[in-house]
Amino acid sequence: MRVLITPEQIQQRIDEVARDIAKSYQGQSITIVGVLTGCIVFLADLIRRLDLPLKIALVQASSYRGKATTAGTLHIQDDLLPELKGRHILLIDDILDTGTTMKHMVGHLQTLGVASVRTAVLLHKRERQQVAIEPDFVGFNIPNEFVVGYGLDYDDEYRNLPYIGILDAPDAS
Ligand code: IMP
Ligand code: MG
Repeated sequence: MRVLITPEQIQQRIDEVARDIAKSYQGQSITIVGVLTGCIVFLADLIRRLDLPLKIALVQASSYRGKATTAGTLHIQDDLLPELKGRHILLIDDILDTGTTMKHMVGHLQTLGVASVRTAVLLHKRERQQVAIEPDFVGFNIPNEFVVGYGLDYDDEYRNLPYIGILDAPDAS
């Protein structure tokens, strides 16, 4: 395991991202929609820095059938979502990789009659992106490496690491 982003770097950057988000909403009430499970650590740290009236909702979306990198169809599990009609939504995920998840989630939220949707991701792997979507708020642009920690997993493990690390040679099955 190699450390790519330290806990201190993460916290410092989240301070800046939170300021950008608060500035862009200017006191407006928002609903943060977190994409489970990868969003949880980022979401928990971000919301405590957001000086805005906000609600939290969670949705599960997974495009990954295999352990690490094999893309499949996107499954959206939105049983946990409250009524979002008319709300300003900030959609949060751990990483924008191919872009499939964010693109589909934005489309899905728009069918629910929301007032607006903006997106925030901790990590953006630009080189891997296949779907056209530009996240509104990005923590870090990262190289094309498989990363874990701070919410991100490999086979559902490593989410608890306080840093973002590069997992050497995960089997891509
Ligand atoms: P996308 O739909 O291809 O953009 O994939 C987004 C989802 O894939 C994220 O929510 C992650 O769960 C997962 N993912 C993509 N890249 C990585 C990675 O490097 N490490 C861990 N999970 C990843
Ligand atoms: Mg995920």
